Amino acid sequence: MDMNAHSIEMKGISIEFPGVKALSDVDFSMASGEIRAVVGANGAGKSTLMKVLAGANAGYTGSIFMDGEAKELRDPRTAKLLGIEIVYKEVDTALFPYLSVAENIMFNTLVTGMKGKAFVSWSSVRKSAREILERLKMDIDVSRKASSLTLAEKQMVLIARAVRERCNFLILDEPTAPLSLGEVEKLFRIVRGLKEKLGVGVIFISHRLPKLFQICDSLTVMKDGKVVANRSVDAELKTKDIVNLMLGRSFEENFPKVEVPIGELALQAKGLCDEAGRVKEASFTVRSGEIMGICGLVGAGKTELCKLLFGAERKKSGTIELAGKLIDVSSPTRAVRHRLALVPEERRKEGVLVSEPVYFNLSAACLGKFCSKLSFVKKRLELENATKLVAQLGIKTPSVQQRVKLLSGGNQQKVAVGKWLASDSLLYILDEPTKGVDVGAKRDIFQLIQGLAAHGRAVLYASSEIAEILAITNRVYVMYNGRFAAELATKETSEEDILFYATGGDK
Ligand SMILES: Nc1ncnc2c1ncn2[C@@H]1O[C@H](COP(=O)(O)OP(=O)(O)OP(=O)(O)O)[C@@H](O)[C@H]1O
Ligand SMILES: [Mg+2]
Repeated sequence: MDMNAHSIEMKGISIEFPGVKALSDVDFSMASGEIRAVVGANGAGKSTLMKVLAGANAGYTGSIFMDGEAKELRDPRTAKLLGIEIVYKEVDTALFPYLSVAENIMFNTLVTGMKGKAFVSWSSVRKSAREILERLKMDIDVSRKASSLTLAEKQMVLIARAVRERCNFLILDEPTAPLSLGEVEKLFRIVRGLKEKLGVGVIFISHRLPKLFQICDSLTVMKDGKVVANRSVDAELKTKDIVNLMLGRSFEENFPKVEVPIGELALQAKGLCDEAGRVKEASFTVRSGEIMGICGLVGAGKTELCKLLFGAERKKSGTIELAGKLIDVSSPTRAVRHRLALVPEERRKEGVLVSEPVYFNLSAACLGKFCSKLSFVKKRLELENATKLVAQLGIKTPSVQQRVKLLSGGNQQKVAVGKWLASDSLLYILDEPTKGVDVGAKRDIFQLIQGLAAHGRAVLYASSEIAEILAITNRVYVMYNGRFAAELATKETSEEDILFYATGGDK
């Protein structure tokens, strides 16, 4: 056996939380130098299994062997010592915002080094950090503060920190979710480098199935806390087979378009600019019954535009009319009073109250709480409504009383989306509503959105996924660099067309 080859073998792993059997009798094994995808519907147990491997789920039963030797992975330190590192989805909270890139990468050494010695050599800290970044072909200035980095850069810093010392296995939990296409390519290059040059085994959790095929050697499919298949990735393997395994039913990733009569002008915006200068002179209309798309690459200004419309970003100039009347949406409270709804992109931070139960988040009282307005609530109605939505969206939770923070990432997203979809609003502003949700849930969300349009509501759908825009919208505005570069009828346009404008093309 190659001296540098390593192996993981997990056998009969189970773990139970109150009311949830998150893993039952799972076997999982892999070798270093391999890139493995772990896929499955929201709540299937992917993150839970990987947390066991990273020593962050101490309560598991079953056995784990590293290089053939039985090990107990009951705390993160032990996992690290065995060369297992994990980068969680929430890259924001994993860095020290006011420390430099170099300090963040070298953090562990700084702490242990200080104990032994009386001082730290800052120049050597910077030098070591620079060397690591160069080796990994990451182009980031080590003196920058972590808070000034983009999400993609933060992720790179975390990867650099993870593989700095001996790392045999690196787990990345949904690393591509916040990235643009170009950033995904860059991440893939880094991951391939880790495999080929350093012999690291990489485990990749993701919902973007087609992308995974480009990078992974093999794939593990999970469903309801179990591993249901292991496959090697080759030309034979098709997305639809994976979806079938994940959901237990066949399912094509195309969504039948529902034709809905387009009604009166609902919203008209003229010359909108935000104070930060990231939305420039945006003018557009949305009619009732219409699903209007805002497409653009990550960073084009879609999120800022959505927030601006909802009063969550400061407006510099421009006007907004609702049903022909000028409205003032200088705060989210005002926006809600005019019956606007926003499903924000950063749902964990802005979209749900994670310490509150599911039913509360799915109720109108919750909207009140977001807008600091008290209202009298009939609890029974609230529970009924929540139970209905949980079924409609397939939210996986032991009960509507469960606190949102105990749900899987994707199910938290569904709660955040469901909450607003349940509100009785005139205009729904949806910012990347399907990010992080599995393909089945995506279809459920699409159906709800189409239902809103069928009831004469107006929908603004912002997304960087062109396929989604083509599937669900009637009309699309393409944003580039804060400006509206084109207005296209969805029926008459194509992926190439949209991409052309989204990347700064001009006809
Ligand atoms: N600490 C916890 N307490 C209670 N239930 C939990 C806890 N952690 C996970 N669960 C439950 O275990 C199940 C598996 O969750 P997990 O986060 O592993 O799913 P996942 O496959 O990563 O899903 P997603 O794609 O949505 O991220 C879910 O039903 C979840 O609600
Ligand atoms: Mg997860």
